[in-house]
Amino acid sequence: MKGTVRFLVLLVLGLALLAMGALHIVSSTFREWFERDLLLRAELAVNGNRHGLARQWEAGNLAALTQRLTDITRDERILAAAACNNEGRLVARTAEWPAGVDCEGFSEPRVSTLGGTRVHATPVPLDGESARLGRVVLLHDLSFLERREAQTREFLFTAFAVLAAAAALITIVAARLSWLGWSAALRRALSGKSSSEPREFQPLLRDVRDLVERLTTEKEVEGQGRWTPERLKQTLSRHLHGERVVILANREPYIHHREPDGSISVRHPASGLVTALEPVMRACSGTWVAHGSGTADRATSDKHDRVRVPPGEEAYTVRRVWLTDEEERGYYYGFSNEGMWPLCHVAHTRPTFRIDDWRHYQAINQRFADAVLDEVDGEDPIVLVQDYHFALVPALIRERLPRATIIMFWHIPWPNAERIGICPWSEQILEGMLGASVVGFHTQQHCNNFIDSIDRYLEARIDREQRAVVHHRRSTAVRAYPISIDWPNRWATEAPKPAECRAQVFAELGLPADAKLGVGVDRLDYTKGIEERLLAVERMLERFPEHRGRFTFAQLAAPSRTAIERYSQLNQNVEKLAERINGKFAAGKWKPIALLRAHHEPPAVFRYYRAADLTYVSSLHDGMNLVAKEFVAAREDERGVLILSSFTGAARELTEALVVNPYDLEEASSAIATALAMPADEQADRMRAMRAYLAEYNVYRWGGRMLAEAARLRARERLTGRLTDRLLGLERPA
Ligand code: G6P
Repeated sequence: MKGTVRFLVLLVLGLALLAMGALHIVSSTFREWFERDLLLRAELAVNGNRHGLARQWEAGNLAALTQRLTDITRDERILAAAACNNEGRLVARTAEWPAGVDCEGFSEPRVSTLGGTRVHATPVPLDGESARLGRVVLLHDLSFLERREAQTREFLFTAFAVLAAAAALITIVAARLSWLGWSAALRRALSGKSSSEPREFQPLLRDVRDLVERLTTEKEVEGQGRWTPERLKQTLSRHLHGERVVILANREPYIHHREPDGSISVRHPASGLVTALEPVMRACSGTWVAHGSGTADRATSDKHDRVRVPPGEEAYTVRRVWLTDEEERGYYYGFSNEGMWPLCHVAHTRPTFRIDDWRHYQAINQRFADAVLDEVDGEDPIVLVQDYHFALVPALIRERLPRATIIMFWHIPWPNAERIGICPWSEQILEGMLGASVVGFHTQQHCNNFIDSIDRYLEARIDREQRAVVHHRRSTAVRAYPISIDWPNRWATEAPKPAECRAQVFAELGLPADAKLGVGVDRLDYTKGIEERLLAVERMLERFPEHRGRFTFAQLAAPSRTAIERYSQLNQNVEKLAERINGKFAAGKWKPIALLRAHHEPPAVFRYYRAADLTYVSSLHDGMNLVAKEFVAAREDERGVLILSSFTGAARELTEALVVNPYDLEEASSAIATALAMPADEQADRMRAMRAYLAEYNVYRWGGRMLAEAARLRARERLTGRLTDRLLGLERPA
């Protein structure tokens, strides 16, 4: 419709221009004809009276000459006449000839205004018996010509206006008719009633289908209220027809451990990845492929290396992959945790890349890819590949199953392109990841860094509009999916009431009832900023001595990756630092820092969260950080203050926390003091807002969004696959 209006405006403008042009041509032609006509008429009038005029003129009979001239002016268009001699002097004139006007300037025909009237002066030479006497000048009335011109102009404009109106009408009717026909055909094509899609509709139909898919996905994600395990399951069965999900993650969700007395215990590892994915797997069922790292893992697995978990509930399967110590050193400790981990975290530990580690990484990625291929059903399974341990796996699976839907989620930050170039195999890493259908990060910033890295190191096309990368004619979507925790949270639901937790924890730590407690919960990892955290506690006690003897900070620190030197160094540093600070402030039974270096199972961790007046998450760089979210989940009493590093993904979501720069000890120590002095109603306001946010943005939503996106891509791939088959004349089994 817009096009038709534009066409009509152009049409009217064009016709107006045409009318003006035509008017100009018509007027000048008309004037030319008119002048020629005047000349002829003048010659005719003079020549008709030539004899009489010449005779009277030669006889010098001026009265008779004047009478002759008056006879000539009987023609209604001739206003006046005069006889001018060869010297240009006025010899005789009619009474209408303007007084005071002589013959000067009337040797040639011309238009002039005489006595307020526009006239055309036409001189006609007059010869006597033997010689030229002079000329007779006739003044013609020009108002006649002007009247004619005005009439012509009017006529022309009316004609063009009628023409414009007729053309516009015809255009509107034609456009309307073709729109009706076109929209009916489009409606038929969209409803699928048309057996063939007109060629001109194909790009449009593709866009419309895209939009419908997108809206359906959005509705699936945004509509219908909160995300729950049931809703996630429904999404899977409705949009992915209940297809089993296979997750690949290095860390397994349940580790079977042989105790010194020979019994077997089950541990929940300290891993944000496990915290997030375990509830998703419970909801979706399927298989989790992981490294069998527990000392009793082999003993608890079947002959296919599988075990049903969670113990007693058996909602899904863990498929264990075994590694030798050497392989684990190269692939896990070496390339993954001495190379990729420090590469991706800006935390001042140099990445180390060794060729042997890389070879192990390649070989073990292949082994895990094979294990995934063992576990999938069919040609186009849904595989969720997790984290930096498996950057090569998406391409390895893609090679064998070109139609698989592979979602790779990167749980740690993705640094800028320059830094990625430090890895000698950065191109292979990027190419491996581009085997995925979707690559996900926690934040848009990490997505942008990833796209910039692709742009810098690979020959690939960046499709910024679709937020995708096209490499070797395959497209990989790059999306931000901020990860979260389950809500309602399993461990929070099972934990005792806050007062009871506080009493238990205070008893464990030997604190008096009126003491204040701060809590930190981490793996002992240099990215977590544990040293900076303890230094902030020290600085707070220096600046605010009223908290000495009353405030204790309990750091739950799970030993992690201890075979790596940097981690054992960190262990020692943290221990020494805690000792130094305790030495500086300890008084009687009180000491400011309780360093609890051990693995704590989730129930213990949640007791600490509930007992705390504050939790300080001081990561120097963290993709998301789920400790922050778990602390909020634990506080159904809406008490406790979260202090959160601005370098965590979580700081972008939990904006009601006290957000600090962990390197800035003045700011961090002030935040601790502020938290300790915060009134209960402010604590409640902040907690309530963060809890409302997490209830909405829980991990089921995270999983649901990714699966909905996978379903969309799958539907599209199936459609394009079918179309391609049809074009190639192949038939694909349903
Ligand atoms: C981070 C990583 C996870 C990892 C976890 C624990 O959260 O993103 O992939 O599982 O640390 O580390 P670990 O090496 O013990 O598995």
